[in-house]
Amino acid sequence: MKIIALNGSPRKTWNTTTLLNKALEGAASQGAETELIHLNDLNFKGCISCFACKRKDGQHGKCAMKDDLAEILKKLETVDGIIFGSPIYYMSITAGMRALLERFLFSHSIYNPEIPTVYPRKIPAGFIYTMNASEKQIEQFGLKQSLNLHEMMIAKTIGNPLTTLYSYDTYQFSDYENYESSMFSEEAKAKQKAEQFPLDCQRAWEMGIKLASTEI
Ligand SMILES: Cc1cc2nc3c(=O)[nH]c(=O)nc-3n(C[C@H](O)[C@H](O)[C@H](O)COP(=O)(O)O)c2cc1C
Repeated sequence: MKIIALNGSPRKTWNTTTLLNKALEGAASQGAETELIHLNDLNFKGCISCFACKRKDGQHGKCAMKDDLAEILKKLETVDGIIFGSPIYYMSITAGMRALLERFLFSHSIYNPEIPTVYPRKIPAGFIYTMNASEKQIEQFGLKQSLNLHEMMIAKTIGNPLTTLYSYDTYQFSDYENYESSMFSEEAKAKQKAEQFPLDCQRAWEMGIKLASTEI
């Protein structure tokens, strides 16, 4: 069994990466082979609307773009679980994660109402989000409802609803005194990091266990 994590954060040692690694550790504890892919290391673009994936004489489910994402998209057709991870940038997922989803989702959907997906498998998936905002602020902005729209599209593609994890109020810098950040209390941020973030890590670990234990 193979579980893959796709990291939409450009930072390889911070909040999103830490949670993705915890989720993979949870999956590995159930015997899964795991891999973490940093999207920021790859040279790729979002969908260019060539519609090659929809041609009757073409290959449904295959994105025709030839860049670093091609190999990852191929790999996603063989894995037994996917964990997506992204920080919230301007009230959405990062540009890299968005570009990946455009390619992954669009290539696996054709304009035929009788065929909801041409993705070859039915696998479980999770989505881990990290954000500076508090849970209360996220509720006020209705962010979860908007994120739920792409979760629904992923669920349609892979044939299963997603497990989600929201890590709020994340610690952003290692040295707050060197950055203009007077709108935050570093003390409150440090408290959140010391008390809440370990609980989020535990939830990520449990997500990994759940995905690796799902019967396919
Ligand atoms: C360009 C940019 C935009 C951001 N926009 C938001 C935002 O709209 N809402 C929010 O809560 N946090 C926002 N943040 C904060 C990040 O979501 C937060 O620090 C996250 O935990 C970073 O993930 P990382 O530590 O894995 O890199 C933004 C950060 C950056 C760099």
